[in-house]
Amino acid sequence: MDRSEIKLGILGYGVVGGGLYHILTTNADQVARRTGVPVVVAKVADIDWERPRKIQVPPALRTTDAYEVINDPQIDIVAETIGGTDPALEFVLAAIEAGKSVVTSNKEMMAKHGGEILAAAAAKGVDVQFEGSVCGTIPIIRALKESLEANRISQIIGIVNGTTNYILTKMTQEGREFAQVLQEAQQLGYAEADPSADIEGIDAANKIAILAAIAFGSHVPLELVYREGISKITPQDISYARQMGYVIKLLAIAKQADGKAELRVHPALLPAAHPLASVNGVFNAVFIRGDACDEVMLYGRGAGALPTGSAVAGDVIDCARNILHGTPGRVPCVCEGTLDVVPMDEVATRVYVRMKVADKPGVLGNIATIFGSQGVSIQSVIQESSSGDLAEIVWLMHKGRERNLRLALEAIGHLDIVEEITSVIRVED
Ligand code: HSE
Repeated sequence: MDRSEIKLGILGYGVVGGGLYHILTTNADQVARRTGVPVVVAKVADIDWERPRKIQVPPALRTTDAYEVINDPQIDIVAETIGGTDPALEFVLAAIEAGKSVVTSNKEMMAKHGGEILAAAAAKGVDVQFEGSVCGTIPIIRALKESLEANRISQIIGIVNGTTNYILTKMTQEGREFAQVLQEAQQLGYAEADPSADIEGIDAANKIAILAAIAFGSHVPLELVYREGISKITPQDISYARQMGYVIKLLAIAKQADGKAELRVHPALLPAAHPLASVNGVFNAVFIRGDACDEVMLYGRGAGALPTGSAVAGDVIDCARNILHGTPGRVPCVCEGTLDVVPMDEVATRVYVRMKVADKPGVLGNIATIFGSQGVSIQSVIQESSSGDLAEIVWLMHKGRERNLRLALEAIGHLDIVEEITSVIRVED
């Protein structure tokens, strides 16, 4: 296509929109060289231009009406950086319908409505790219869709949420309680005022659903992702984990073997020698295992104006090239199959269990008998110094089904000699 420039419209001028605008204007020469023609930001829509922002947009480009961007025949690509599904989904579908290629950083929208959006894009012959939706700057989607696409991917394990990784890192390094570190993270602006999407693992579940869909070539309904957050993790568990050679991380896990998949987000004990164990603070990383590539790990910042803006800008350049070369849809959606997801009760993991019990003869034996009767095999036991009449016992179990462990713990929880089952945390090797 003989074009002297490509025009971009941005919907939503928050942190990511600002980062995108900054990169495309500051690095305009490089973007033009790589694309073949300049990529020009033609309009930016946001409902509130009064909010203070670090990166300003010239008033002439501003509008409060998203449809001024979507319906502008001059605009080739629409970048959606609003977040959430409402009104982002409506705007994205309208932009596709108007024949625009779309770039988005919206994980919730892609996790819940990616299939519908990509089908609409395929029908219209435009691109929808969403690198910025998972792990900010880390090029994980392009890695799975293109660089590693000849592999059978058996495993993706990610630290995909910076807020929870920051909290767990601080708890580990400073021995502090969850609630205290969360409050500090909120004051520093690392955690949202309503932190539930991050600390309950909702954000991570959205991200692993997107990655699993691409890696396994399947539609992944979000409700099939098992989810547990980090609010019950204590400094005591972190300390016991350390004694046993582990760190505690919130992991997003997608595994596939023999046609069965596991999809789960939960805190886990991870061996201190695992490459993901040293990913600290707000950083994210994704560890992938494929039949040809073996192990791959990608690391970087999972949030922030410029890191996420970088991923979105890369997608804009790719869409622009496809428009210039007449090849939108060059890398089509592959998420058409269905996945046989193993129910959590059937998943086999190793588990760490901490409990407070009466400190008297026969207690350990009683509890061990119940574990044994459910086929739960004990790997190691630590008994820490007693306080009063109570002892604290930490069990590490061999790999076993969740259902058996659950039944054993229900029975153990009813014993008079058991004061409290304090923690149950999976172990990921
Ligand atoms: N809230 C996310 C995190 C960043 O804490 O990693 C955006 O996905």
